[in-house]
Amino acid sequence: MDTSTPTSMPRIGDPAPPFKAVTTQGEIDFPAQFAGSWVILFSHPADFTPVCTSEFMTFATLEDKFAELNCKLVGLSVDGLYSHIAWLRTIKEKIEFKGMKHVEVTFPLIEDITMEVAHKYGMIQPGESSTKAVRAVFVIDPKGIIRTIIYYPLSLGRNFDELLRVLVALQTADAFGVATPADWRPGDDVIVPPAGSCGVAKERMESKESGITCHDWFFCTKKLPAEEVFKVVKRTAG
Ligand code: BEZ
Repeated sequence: MDTSTPTSMPRIGDPAPPFKAVTTQGEIDFPAQFAGSWVILFSHPADFTPVCTSEFMTFATLEDKFAELNCKLVGLSVDGLYSHIAWLRTIKEKIEFKGMKHVEVTFPLIEDITMEVAHKYGMIQPGESSTKAVRAVFVIDPKGIIRTIIYYPLSLGRNFDELLRVLVALQTADAFGVATPADWRPGDDVIVPPAGSCGVAKERMESKESGITCHDWFFCTKKLPAEEVFKVVKRTAG
């Protein structure tokens, strides 16, 4: 690893580190240019590799679903711009996979041959590779704050249901002031914040607060119909 290059690991709750970069869609000013939208910044190890190809085809196929959630996509690898362009053209012209074909990638793909951005975002993890980015996913909110970080190793393609679920869950938590339990999906019960005082906790436990079920004093849930979730999530998307 090049030890002269500063490596940082941004954390959940931090402002997304700013940078300017060249992409397949022109220059970008990140995250300023995406203010007001959610954005998924993700890295892949290398162009012209199979797992990455399957992921790009899936990201591009789902781009409209991400857009419905007011979420833009930005990819990055340490390859150069001409490699990116040639790879995306090959995907469009030649690759058929799992029913996807003629897939056009129209979201920006950053060239990062100096690895400056990859180091800034902790995407180079030398135990895995010091010359390629791992599969990082940064979910950044409309105010430019990092809300979720997921890292996958080189050999493991991402789960796109999970990425969409994360976006809906974050937007639901923000809109309704709730938390979401294990494996939550829209329509499942949500977790209400802990009661602020013993009196409220007791009242909840005795089911006097309407619509709330307490499994114990620290664990209370309520119904949140999927229609309510999607009303808000769609409005956020508008
Ligand atoms: C792939 O995308 O297939 C891949 C990339 C780098 C290392 C291993 C696999």
